[in-house]
Amino acid sequence: MSNLVSLIDIPQSYISELKDTFYSTEGYVTATTEKRSDIFEFESIKNVVNFLGMEIEALVGDNFYKHVWPYFPHTDAPLEQSRKYQHFVIPLEKHFEDDVYLIIFDQQSKIGPTSWLGHSNFDIQFEYNQIVHGNFTKHDIEGYIEDAITLEFANKYLPYPLDWYQGLSGKAYKWEPGTIIKFPSNFIHCTGKMPEKSSKLGLTLKFKLESNIY
Ligand SMILES: [Fe+2]
Repeated sequence: MSNLVSLIDIPQSYISELKDTFYSTEGYVTATTEKRSDIFEFESIKNVVNFLGMEIEALVGDNFYKHVWPYFPHTDAPLEQSRKYQHFVIPLEKHFEDDVYLIIFDQQSKIGPTSWLGHSNFDIQFEYNQIVHGNFTKHDIEGYIEDAITLEFANKYLPYPLDWYQGLSGKAYKWEPGTIIKFPSNFIHCTGKMPEKSSKLGLTLKFKLESNIY
């Protein structure tokens, strides 16, 4: 495990409270993901921020995300002071039996919040992220490395062909309710393989810290 990625156990009571918030409120859908508005106001969010030992004032971005498609590789930190942003991914519920993973790569964005759509035909509009089609390049990412991902890793975890991930190296972390995954927001990350026509629900919290994380 990279020392910039850590796993935190969270009691079930927090997860239940967050799910109650999601299912008792209305939201909106963007790029096939269902979200909620103004969630800074919810008690369940304040409680989990408190549990994490973070300041609510430092919470700069967050949302529930209920999604059917695995997220493409992307980053969530703004270009400015990109190393100060800390991510917490909080799995809440999955509607399928198979294991699913969050893949966190060792590389970082040099071009701000970006989603890399590989050689897919998708033309998705995201709320914040710019879109890059095609391969990763040394211009766009820090730490570019050739041939670091094995076919075995790709077959087990990655939803798209291995050559779409050329330039990256990384690890898979099991996405399961009860375990929070913490990592710098500017590190490239994506959802691992996910069964079709199913979905999962999580919460992401993004904090801006006083000093650089890495
Ligand atoms: Fe993300």
